[in-house]
Amino acid sequence: MRESSRVVVIGAGPAGLTLANLLQLAGVGCVVLERQSRSYVEQRQRAGVLDYASRRIFEEWGVAETLLTGVPEDRALEIRVDGEPHVLDIRALSGGRTGRAIPQQMLIARLMAAFLKGGGDLRFGADQVTLHDLAAPDSTPVVTYRDAEGTAREITCDYVAGCDGHHGVTRTAVPPREMTTYTYDHGIGWFTVLADVPPPRLPLFAISTHGFAAQFPRGPGACRLYLECAPDDVPADWTDERIWRQARLRLGDESLPAGPIVDKSVVEMRSFVVDPMRYGRLFLVGDAAHIITPMGGKGMNLAIADADVLARALRAAVLDGDEEPLAAYSATCLRRVWNQQEFSRWLTELMHESGDATLAGTFRRQLARARLDRLFTSAPAGQAFADLLAGG
Ligand code: APR
Repeated sequence: MRESSRVVVIGAGPAGLTLANLLQLAGVGCVVLERQSRSYVEQRQRAGVLDYASRRIFEEWGVAETLLTGVPEDRALEIRVDGEPHVLDIRALSGGRTGRAIPQQMLIARLMAAFLKGGGDLRFGADQVTLHDLAAPDSTPVVTYRDAEGTAREITCDYVAGCDGHHGVTRTAVPPREMTTYTYDHGIGWFTVLADVPPPRLPLFAISTHGFAAQFPRGPGACRLYLECAPDDVPADWTDERIWRQARLRLGDESLPAGPIVDKSVVEMRSFVVDPMRYGRLFLVGDAAHIITPMGGKGMNLAIADADVLARALRAAVLDGDEEPLAAYSATCLRRVWNQQEFSRWLTELMHESGDATLAGTFRRQLARARLDRLFTSAPAGQAFADLLAGG
């Protein structure tokens, strides 16, 4: 089966579905190929915060109402130090540039519904996706795959968008000499659970000598808990009893209610960036090009920001014959990526070193506590923090 499309988007996570919607709005034809089933994609629960920069992107493309109706504002957060609460009023500190607290699966369901409503071509169960002729000077790319029925298919296109996450195939189609890879292991483990218990009033970061913990709302009846752990811990090391005992101890809240735990996993606290995010007519988007720790909540937002830059560049290339924005795609995205990597690393150090002195010693713990104190008492320090949370 042979066919053609302007753009083939590989992967239907936050990056692929955002890009597909923006291309549809721009009038650029695309086909989306997703390896998993629709229900798998719809149910995957990961991120939960859309920052201000992402909200602005959806507003500028005129889809904020469709995607964000009824979604609460992410207006403040609590940092609890040895049981003592400090509330940061992010709305005031950022001058109103707040994000939205939206569970990833809700955003995914809305993006998918909007794309399909607009007549979008979204194919699940696409197996053995393989890219050909990405950088050949006198031919255009070809994407081959097997569809859900096992039929071999071939799509000729002008551009390929690699939105297939960190373990996808598109990055592996790039010869290693064409890309520089940067990796960093933060030397910490995070054990995380998704629990059906009432969420905290505000997103909560807790610092104590027992180790770092965080609790974030995930919709009205659920929350995600993060607990600092040894980097080589496995979920089996954490019984439900240990989870709730440690959560109560670290959050300084003996009355924290326990409840059903729906998911347990250990998060890799690792960062990864490739440069450039392009090879010939292949453009890498989101986790396919970079991963960031969950600290700061920027993974999904970077994916959305990349998709916005690429959609605008593809619109210029396809509709106006102007390839300059495409030439600038990688550098434009990487500037933001490194800024957010720095923010995430800074916050990781601040939150962990101020509690657990085994990480970097007591001197560094006091330095981290001085930085925290500055955050609570200096308006410019609070504003700089809120500015980074807003993204952009
Ligand atoms: N062929 C087709 N699809 C593939 C393939 C493949 N070979 N490999 C992976 N995929 C699909 C996955 O099934 C998944 O649906 O690509 C999608 C990639 O989605 P994500 O891993 O969520 O990556 P991305 O869209 O870049 O979003 C990343 O979102 O969950 C948040 O914060 C998190 O940083 C993360 C961000």
